[in-house]
Amino acid sequence: MAGVGGRMVADRVREVEISGIRKMFESAPSNSVNLGLGEPDFDPPEKVVEELCRAVRHGMNHYGPSAGLPALRDRIAEGYRDREPATGRENVIVTGSGSEGLMAAALALYNPGDEVLVPNPGFVLYAPHARLAGAVPVPYSLRAEDGFLPDPAELESLVTSRTRAIVVNSPSNPTGTVFPRSVVDRIVAIADRHELTIVSDEVYEEIVYERPATSFWGRSDRTVVVNSFSKMLATTGWRIGYLVAPRSLAVELNKIHYHIMACPPTPAQAAVLVGLDLPEATRAMVREFRQRRDLVVRLLERIEGISVVRPGGAFYVFPKFDWSTSSPDLAAELLSRGVITTPGEAFGSLGASHLRLSFATSRADLRKGIGTIAECARTLAASPAA
Ligand SMILES: Cc1ncc(COP(=O)(O)O)c(C=O)c1O
Repeated sequence: MAGVGGRMVADRVREVEISGIRKMFESAPSNSVNLGLGEPDFDPPEKVVEELCRAVRHGMNHYGPSAGLPALRDRIAEGYRDREPATGRENVIVTGSGSEGLMAAALALYNPGDEVLVPNPGFVLYAPHARLAGAVPVPYSLRAEDGFLPDPAELESLVTSRTRAIVVNSPSNPTGTVFPRSVVDRIVAIADRHELTIVSDEVYEEIVYERPATSFWGRSDRTVVVNSFSKMLATTGWRIGYLVAPRSLAVELNKIHYHIMACPPTPAQAAVLVGLDLPEATRAMVREFRQRRDLVVRLLERIEGISVVRPGGAFYVFPKFDWSTSSPDLAAELLSRGVITTPGEAFGSLGASHLRLSFATSRADLRKGIGTIAECARTLAASPAA
């Protein structure tokens, strides 16, 4: 059967794997503490849930326009006018999640052989999407010692005549870093100098603790923003996101989006439209995440052999360990002790010697999970280096 499958499958499929993160969870003991979650541990706001039910009960169960409901596109555009006053409905495509938006952007922007600069460590879809479009992902470094910020000099040194785009993600998964405005300015300057498209994944923009995230929208006329309601409204299962792009490019993005999914889910669009006018729901969630962020950083800083960069956004922390073990081995050891974490290497080679811990879980579980990491640290410190 394997041989038959091998001949049936297109070559591009060999370019990609399902993210290692999911595999890890499947082997977890049933009562494990889960520090691996990539989604808020909250329910969507009640009014948003009610609107979803109302929409379904009142007949919004049919196909809608491929680029999304006009009222939702208008409302999204309104939220971007402080960044670029001319933003209108024509700039917005509602997608079936941020993930679909990323895929549509890759297929609409990259030609075979193009090079695309992607963060290392970075979200697990950027490099595979580039490969599926026939392009070559070229990693740029995010290092703990630089606060996980990109080095503009390195970025520019990676640009060749084939470079087509740069993918940026602030606040970041997995590091939680929020780019200061000066970094955004320098990336925009590089993109302008080399005529690169900026694909800016801003799905965590609302989840920030000290300063607001600086959007790339309105900073360069070659920006495509990828956004999502998944994290902002805790609706990861509803699969609703959007793209914001220059009008002529939005027309092209919409072609790919149409061929992927015809149109985004209609009732979920009605519901998130209500959610856009409930910023307090997101703020309450962020207040709780901030407390947990402080707790997690405090607990990790006490562990010998671990160093931590305080995340400014998202709900992840990306501690570095100096024990002589690999991140998959450490994550496997923790799993055997009942704590799910994500090995840093799942996000790229520079994730080696890091773990991603999500604080989208209760404070009690955070204490328990990090307590287990501290125990593990004592064992590792006592064992001779390999
Ligand atoms: C950085 C980043 N971008 C995009 C996504 C995709 O989100 P969704 O497909 O749920 O909209 C995620 C989800 O974890 C993410 O972490």
